[in-house]
Amino acid sequence: MKDKLIIFDTTLRDGEQSPGASMTKEEKIRIARQLEKLGVDVIEAGFAAASPGDADAIQSVARVIEHSTVCSLARANERDVRAAGEAIKPAKSGRIHTFIATSPIHMEKKLRMTPDQVVDAAVKAVKLALEYTDDVEFSAEDAVRSEMDFLVRVFDAVIRAGARTLNVPDTVGYSIPALWGERIRQLIERVPNSNRVVWSTHCHNDLGMAVANSLAAVMNGARQVECTINGLGERAGNASLEEIVMAVKTRRDVFTCDSRIDTAQIVPTSKLVSSITGYPVQPNKAIVGANAFAHESGIHQDGVLKHRETYEIMRAEDVGWSTNKLTLGKLSGRNAFRTRLQELGIVLESEEALNAAFARFKDLADRKSEIFDEDLQALVNEETVAHVSEHYRLVSMRAHSETGILPEARVVLSVGGQERKAEMQGGGPVDATFKAIEQIVQSGTELLLYSVNNITSGTDAQGEVTVRLAKGGRIVNGQGADTDIVVASAKAYLNALNKLHGKLERAHPQL
Ligand code: KIV
Ligand code: ZN
Repeated sequence: MKDKLIIFDTTLRDGEQSPGASMTKEEKIRIARQLEKLGVDVIEAGFAAASPGDADAIQSVARVIEHSTVCSLARANERDVRAAGEAIKPAKSGRIHTFIATSPIHMEKKLRMTPDQVVDAAVKAVKLALEYTDDVEFSAEDAVRSEMDFLVRVFDAVIRAGARTLNVPDTVGYSIPALWGERIRQLIERVPNSNRVVWSTHCHNDLGMAVANSLAAVMNGARQVECTINGLGERAGNASLEEIVMAVKTRRDVFTCDSRIDTAQIVPTSKLVSSITGYPVQPNKAIVGANAFAHESGIHQDGVLKHRETYEIMRAEDVGWSTNKLTLGKLSGRNAFRTRLQELGIVLESEEALNAAFARFKDLADRKSEIFDEDLQALVNEETVAHVSEHYRLVSMRAHSETGILPEARVVLSVGGQERKAEMQGGGPVDATFKAIEQIVQSGTELLLYSVNNITSGTDAQGEVTVRLAKGGRIVNGQGADTDIVVASAKAYLNALNKLHGKLERAHPQL
């Protein structure tokens, strides 16, 4: 019988600290639902004290999630802990994750607190958190640069205060596997009553070793790993969930623990997070990169055809790479559509939302002969996009490109219900379209990112566009999908403008 490895996902908190990845409440709920389906044990939904918007998002996630614990981060002070406690109140199972820095550099230069004051604050925070939930986690921020004797002292104190999970973070991504494993082993050995708590690790990827360090911690007794989808996170990111889970599963000969993750949900989750945050997945990324299971060399292809295990240590379908399963077509009815959405775990809030999505599906089926699961996911994204109040709406557009002539676009928008038109030239049809939109809207925003991905293969595939806009310190992502990528681009741009207009996005979550 193997030990349980607790998977603590912090995509919605640490992941959200990636520049430009901040998410709206609706986006957090969609990702949280998918994380629950993936089988994540703990979802860190945000940092309640960071903003009223984040507190509200955590509360909303807590209301809809049934099978995962919902957690809020809190610094070790009364205001933060109370905000976290209120935010997780609706959860079936809620956790407060409180932290304070324990390294000399952080205590002296950042906190300006003595070690005694730090221990005192940690203990008080844990005790206060216990008034809201008996599931309290404590993190010693910058544990990697903390003195061992002091870490032992702090952890001993918080165990006595009632913390159930002790997290050891490599906040700055400084460790290497052998040292990190040894640090965890020593802590478990030296901290009194260490067998009464779950030891956890949280590693950043500044030296590219977040996953390796996390696995070294697991080999030395950690039974919770904090990680994110696609390794999203502050600076170079966090340990990537998919790599941790698949390493433990694939090397079950080495690990004495296993997670309860439904690995077939890994790729759909990765795609959802990538499309919502606008952070693309590099093609050669382990597990979830487009080439992760592609064999290019003739020798490898020959080997795989003869006997798959010659070059493959995992099966693509086990991590959710479907072979573009044909789902529905032009003649499919509303019931077949609804059933397939249910099978995909997609929940639409109302009958009206289902009708709107079905109308989009019929429209798409007229333009694209084969509709795949990925197309349905994009349709639902569009449905969510449509929920953003549409101050700016695309009425019609035409883009023209011809060799030797500057591309031009003509755009008709509805702005607060009034039709406005503009025609502009640009470096390409997308550039001309954005210029025409700006001619009407005069938003004064800065375009930080423009990316296009094809949702399925083939030239009739839908293009999914992400646009990231910044204005006055606020950053938003907009998405749009269409078989015509210029139209998809216009939709994505308007979606971002609508978010800015509706103030749906939140301030950067980092304090
Ligand atoms: O990196 C870190 O130390 C953190 C803590 C808040 C756990 O994110
Ligand atoms: Zn972190």
